[in-house]
Formats: sequence, C-alpha cells, structure tokens
Amino acid sequence: MSFTVAIDGPAAAGKGTISRAIAREFGFAHLDTGLLYRAVGMKGGDPIIAARNLSSDDLARDGLRSLAAGEAASRVAVLPEVRAALVAFQRDFAQRAGGAVLDGRDIGTIICPEAEVKLFVTASAETRARRRWLEAGEQGGYEEVLAQVRARDARDIGRADAPLLAAPDAILLDTTEMTVAQAIEAAKEVIAERLETRA
Ligand code: CDP
Ligand code: CDP
Repeated sequence: MSFTVAIDGPAAAGKGTISRAIAREFGFAHLDTGLLYRAVGMKGGDPIIAARNLSSDDLARDGLRSLAAGEAASRVAVLPEVRAALVAFQRDFAQRAGGAVLDGRDIGTIICPEAEVKLFVTASAETRARRRWLEAGEQGGYEEVLAQVRARDARDIGRADAPLLAAPDAILLDTTEMTVAQAIEAAKEVIAERLETRA
C-alpha cells in the first residue's frame, strides 16, 4: 500500500525539518527533491544532459546545501526539459510500499496530484531569511541572504513550468510564529488523522 505525503513551500519554510520528522514518526521514506535540482545546478555543463544522467554520486557531493547551490538549482529548475527528466524518479519514489514523504515546490501540484496528504508550508520572507542566515554562518550578511531568498521566491513563483503554488486541496501551515516542535506537531496531527480515516 502506498501513502504519499507531499510537502511544498518556499525556501527555509521548514519543509525539510518537517519531512524528516514525519518520516521518522511514521516510518516513511523521505525524498528531498530540491537536492535533485541542486545536484543538476552544481554539475556544470548542459543542465538537461546532467538531469538525464543524474547519479547517486551527484546527489552525494559536498556543497549541495550551500546558498550558492540553492541559487544554481533555481536557475536550472526553470527549464522544462530538466523538470521532465526528473519526474519518473520522483513518482517511483512516491509509490514505495510503506509510505513516502516528498518535499519540494511542485509535489502536490505536478508530481503527486493524488497524494493522500498535501501540506503547503510557508513563513514570511524575513523569518525564512533569518533562519537561513543563522544556519549559513559565514556565508554573507542577513540583508544579502534576504535578497537571495526574495530572488529565489520570485523565480520559483514566476516560472511558466511547475511554479511554486499551493495545490487547491493543500493544507496551509504558516510557521512564521511557530517553533520547530509546534510545526512538526501540526503536521503529524494532519497525517495521523488521514491515516486513521484510511484504515
Ligand atoms: O526545507 P526548507 O528549506 O523549507 O527548510 P528547513 O531547512 O527545514 O528549515 C530551515 C531552518 O528553519 C532550519 O534551521 C529549522 O530548524 C528552522 N525552523 C523551522 O524549520 N521551523 C520553525 N518553525 C522554526 C525554525
Ligand atoms: O531547501 P530550500 O527550500 O532552500 O531549497 P530546495 O528545496 O533545496 O530547492 C532549491 C531550488 O530547487 C528551489 O528554489 C527551486 O527552484 C528548485 N526546486 C524545484 O523547482 N522543484 C522542486 N520540487 C524542488 C526544488
């Protein structure tokens, strides 16, 4: 039996943190789909060829979590051929027996429109920039990180193919005023309830 949880939202909304906690709690497999785009962005050369030939080595390379890799990811993510090359892998992952949680930008809208649970996690740009800035340490000042977050939001929301968008049936989770524990708890409740009604 498959059970898919789709978690979408902008940078540093808390998607990864929530996804990892959910995967642990319910025993689901987790795929951070942003990592696929980051790996393509950092590979160099033709991004379409990189996306078609993505290997586990590409996904394991250092530096994929950096702000620069996030920026590179959002540039290749506007290319329809890059997105198309990554669809099958993500859909196969979502069908895993035992359940799967995928986080990204287009999981609930394009990759898994039939997902059992869809969450759209968000927070104000200032809050998200502060989170990334605290994580990044040496990688520039807060204002610079905020400008990057805003530029990435604009690119993700404005692109023609698979823009960042809440699915009509997604549950909105604004984490601006939430602690990590509160955000995780809210997500767990939604999933536990859905699992119960399905049982
Ligand atoms: O995956 P995404 O980019 O959406 O965000 P993340 O990497 O899970 O979270 C970004 C940072 O925000 C992490 O350092 C979290 O600890 C922190 N944070 C959060 O995720 N949720 C809150 N309610 C508060 C802080
Ligand atoms: O962790 P954070 O939210 O900062 O970024 P990420 O999820 O690793 O995604 C990096 C970039 O990849 C995003 O800004 C998007 O442009 C792109 N992306 C996408 O287009 N579709 C996805 N399903 C996941 C990421």
